[in-house]
Amino acid sequence: MDNGLDRKFRWGVATAAYQIEGAAGEDGKGPSIWDAMTHVPGKTRRGDTGDVACDHYHRYKDDIKLMAELGVNAYRFSVSWSRILPDGRGRVNEKGIEFYSDLIDEMLSYGIEPFLTLYHWDLPEKLFEQGGWLNPDSPGWFYEYAKLVGERFGERVKNYITINEPTNVLEGMGPGATNAPGMEYSLKDRLLAVHNLLKAHGMAVRALRETVPGSKIGFAPCSGPFCPADDDPELIEESRKGYCDMREGDLIGNLVLYSDPVFLGDYPAKYYEYYRDVHPEITKEDLELISTPVDYCFHNIYSANVLMKDGKGGYRIKSGNPVCNMLEWGIVPGALYWGPKFLYERYGKPVIITENGLPNPDVVCLDGKVHDAERSDFIERYTREILRAKADGVDVRGYFYWSFMDNLEWEVGYCPRFGLVYVNFDTLERIPKDSYYYYRDLIKRNS
Ligand code: BGC
Repeated sequence: MDNGLDRKFRWGVATAAYQIEGAAGEDGKGPSIWDAMTHVPGKTRRGDTGDVACDHYHRYKDDIKLMAELGVNAYRFSVSWSRILPDGRGRVNEKGIEFYSDLIDEMLSYGIEPFLTLYHWDLPEKLFEQGGWLNPDSPGWFYEYAKLVGERFGERVKNYITINEPTNVLEGMGPGATNAPGMEYSLKDRLLAVHNLLKAHGMAVRALRETVPGSKIGFAPCSGPFCPADDDPELIEESRKGYCDMREGDLIGNLVLYSDPVFLGDYPAKYYEYYRDVHPEITKEDLELISTPVDYCFHNIYSANVLMKDGKGGYRIKSGNPVCNMLEWGIVPGALYWGPKFLYERYGKPVIITENGLPNPDVVCLDGKVHDAERSDFIERYTREILRAKADGVDVRGYFYWSFMDNLEWEVGYCPRFGLVYVNFDTLERIPKDSYYYYRDLIKRNS
C-alpha cells in the first residue's frame, strides 16, 4: 500500500513553540494558557516560565543552521496559535505570520522539510476564558485557525500534525492538574474536552484539505506500547491485546481511546461501558468528522510496558528493571519495534515517530563540551529497533528525535534536558552535545 505518500525516510528533530520561542509578549503575540499558568506561583518548578525559553524567536536562523549541519531532512515545529491570532480568532497578527513564514523559508533554504504542528498545548488564553475545549464552538475555532495556517503557509508546508497528545487536556484538567490550565474539572467535563478536541482535529483535517492540496495530515498521540519480554508467540499476542485494550480508569495511557475514533471511526466499546453515565453525547456526524481520513499514523513513543509471564499461567508487567531515565520513565528500546508494528497492524497507515528522546541533567565539562554518552546510546538502541521494524515489513517512514535543543520541560522547568544541543539558559549560548555528532553520523550511515 503506497497511499501516494513519499517513501523517503525522515530523519528529523522536533520542538514546540512554547518550549523554545520565548518572546512571550512581543510583536503582538497574545497570551496562551501556558503563559498564564507559568506565572501563577508554585505551578512550575522553581517558577520557570517560557518568557525567554531558548529565545528561538530571535535566534531561529542560527538554530536552523545548526539543524542543517546535523543533516536532518525534516523538522517538526509548532505554531503558537496566539502568536498569529492573539485572541484565538478574528484579528490576525501579521508579525506572527511573518515569523513563521521566515522560519519556514529558512528551513526550506537548507532542504529541510517542515512538519507543522497546529496545537502543541498552548490554547489562546482568550479562548480559555470562553470555556476553552468545553465550549461547543471550539472545533469551529480550530477550523478557522487551521484554515489561516493553510492559506498562509500551505504553498510551502505539506505535512501537518493537527494536535499533539490529546491526553494533555486531561493532564491540565484532571486531579492534580500539572499542565495548563492547571485546574481540576469533573470527569464529565474532561471527557467532553477530549471529544471536542478530537472534533477539532477533524475540522482541521478538513480545513487543510480545502486549503493545501496534496497535504499529508495526521495527529500525534503518545502511548507506551506493550512489549513482550521475549519472542514467545503467546507473549507477543498478549502484548498486542494489552496495548490495544481500553483499561478502566486509565484515561492517559490509553492508545485506543484517542486513536480508534480517528482511524476506525468510533470509540472502543469499553468507553461506552465504563463511562456510560458521564460521556458526552456522541453523534454519527461527530464520529464522521473525527474520522475524516488522514494520511499518517504519527506517534510519540518514549517508554513501554514490558510484559512477561507470571509463572502462574498469567501475565504481568515487569517492574524494577527496565532502567529508568531522570523522569522515571523506563528505557525500553523495543518500544520502537513493537509500537510501530502494532500501530501499523491496527490502523494500516504509515507510521512516523514524531517524538522520542532522553532527558538528562547534562553538564558542560571542563573541556567545554557536553559528554552525554547515555543519549547517544539511547538513540542508537531505539533507532536500531525502528529500522528492525522497517526491515520486517512495517511501513515506518520516519523518526524525529525530541528535542533538537534543551528547552522548557513544561511544569518541571529547565532541568530535564532532552536536547541534542545544550542551551545555557543564562547566556543562551548553544553547544552541540556529543549526541548531536552521534546522531549526525547515524543519519549519514542510514541515509
Ligand atoms: C511532549 C513534549 C515534551 C516531551 C517530553 C511529549 O509529551 O509532546 O512537549 O517535552 O514529551 O516530556
